Amino acid sequence: MTDYKKKIYEAAKSALPELNESDVVASDAFCDFCIPCFKFAKTMRRAPALIASEAAGAVKLDGIKIEALNGYLNFTVERSARVSELFGARSEFKPFAGKTVCIDFSSVNIAKPFHIGHLMTTVIGGALCNVYRALGARVVGINHLGDFGTQFGGLISAYRRWGDEARLERRGLDELLDLYVKYNAECEKDAELASEARAWSKKIEDGDPYAVGIFDRFKAITLEQAKRVYKRLNVEFDSYLGESFYVDKVSGVEKKLSDKSLLSISDGAEIVDLGDDMPPALVRRSDGASLYIARDLAAAYYRKDTYDFDKCLYVVASHQALHFKQLFKVLELAGEPWASDMVHVSYGMVSVEGMSLSTRRGNVLYLNDVLDSAVDKAAEIINERNATLENKKAVSESVGVGAVVFDALYDGRLKDKNFSLEAALNFDGETGPYVQYTHARCRSVLAKADRDSEDVKPELLTDDSAYEVVKLLVDFDEVVLFAAEKYEPSAISRRLVKICQAFNRFYNADRIMCGGDLQSARLALTRKTADTLEYGLSLILLDAPEKM
Ligand code: ARG
Repeated sequence: MTDYKKKIYEAAKSALPELNESDVVASDAFCDFCIPCFKFAKTMRRAPALIASEAAGAVKLDGIKIEALNGYLNFTVERSARVSELFGARSEFKPFAGKTVCIDFSSVNIAKPFHIGHLMTTVIGGALCNVYRALGARVVGINHLGDFGTQFGGLISAYRRWGDEARLERRGLDELLDLYVKYNAECEKDAELASEARAWSKKIEDGDPYAVGIFDRFKAITLEQAKRVYKRLNVEFDSYLGESFYVDKVSGVEKKLSDKSLLSISDGAEIVDLGDDMPPALVRRSDGASLYIARDLAAAYYRKDTYDFDKCLYVVASHQALHFKQLFKVLELAGEPWASDMVHVSYGMVSVEGMSLSTRRGNVLYLNDVLDSAVDKAAEIINERNATLENKKAVSESVGVGAVVFDALYDGRLKDKNFSLEAALNFDGETGPYVQYTHARCRSVLAKADRDSEDVKPELLTDDSAYEVVKLLVDFDEVVLFAAEKYEPSAISRRLVKICQAFNRFYNADRIMCGGDLQSARLALTRKTADTLEYGLSLILLDAPEKM
């Protein structure tokens, strides 16, 4: 990949002494790149238009046309040069080689349903794992399980009083949820229940084999459900170490903090004062129980020791912003140089439209049920469009699940979303199915041609519609890098849609099977398009069926 921005910057800086590399911006209006000259007017004591036209005369770059227009210096790369670049030998693009990135995402809670609220963290985190891995990083995907708390003592009490092994076996998580609801209701009437529950949660903490055994069973039931969903979403984890793992490591953290005189006691509780901008971090309650942030501190130290990460990401909803601000601040006050490598990758809320209430259990919408509805609907559409398709079941799964994931990853992550099945499954919209369908269309063109050649004559792909596709493919790696640096998989989904729109215009405007060198060139472009779509889809967790 030619770094045109750098090339342009190097060539232009002698004519524009104040130029920074970031002043060279990509443009798709009149040219490929431009430099706005307005900010130089003051020190150069000339009008921007004059600065631009003088620079246009002075700067020379092979294969790049330079023009001044209204105070902008415009750069247009020769089309055939970019086509050659697309088909030429490319070196591997691994800017994160040698780096380690920990990504804490999905992080489900034991005995809680895997509901629609987990969609964003799971798919943003899963996509970021793929993106960083593709860019050469060693990635550690971590599911920081919510497996510690007094509620689990309550659940054991409830199970012993009203539970039944056979029913648990049959109903799994639904049974646990019902038991927990019953526990809460009974607790209000029966004071003894709460103290019994406390005793059980103490037993779990102390490693009592019986208590731990039941709790492990609850854990397995929850994870079994979550893993079913992970499989459908193409998401995997390298570690499932949850909060309980860190409970006995909190005292080590307390030691570090007290050595640095950061701990103080307030109303019997142990806190770290964080100054005027935010409330203190509560490390241990007056009754001796460690708190969420204390376990997160222990986890941060553990991850640094174990993986020596260069970056540690937390993909967690925006309502935990204060928690992470406090967490990072404590580490900064403790003088840990890596405190600045910690990032809270926050995201907005999701609501769902078009799912009937009958699929809701209690007040929650299970993610698996949402995926099922999407797959059913995808199957209907596929039946209408292509009744004789082989593998209809597998394709419907890829398309239905893909539609949900793509939709979740299409807008910037901070925006709140109202999810609509109808919109997500529109084959003609800016959707997963649209991208998957365009990919399949490319593959079917390629399947009909007996061969295409990589020996492309670059000048044959410089007409407007072919070149538009070339431009969007040639810097695809930069889009992936942007997605990593901004923690925004949406950059990839958006680019995929643009590629599809450009390819479909090319497909309609330029006849591909036209014979000779031109046909080979167009087939080669079709293959590059298909490969890029397949690669991009895989980064954002979607399958790319060959036929649809
Ligand atoms: N289990 C938590 C929740 O559902 C999310 C955990 C996020 N990760 C972390 N290291 N705090 O709210």
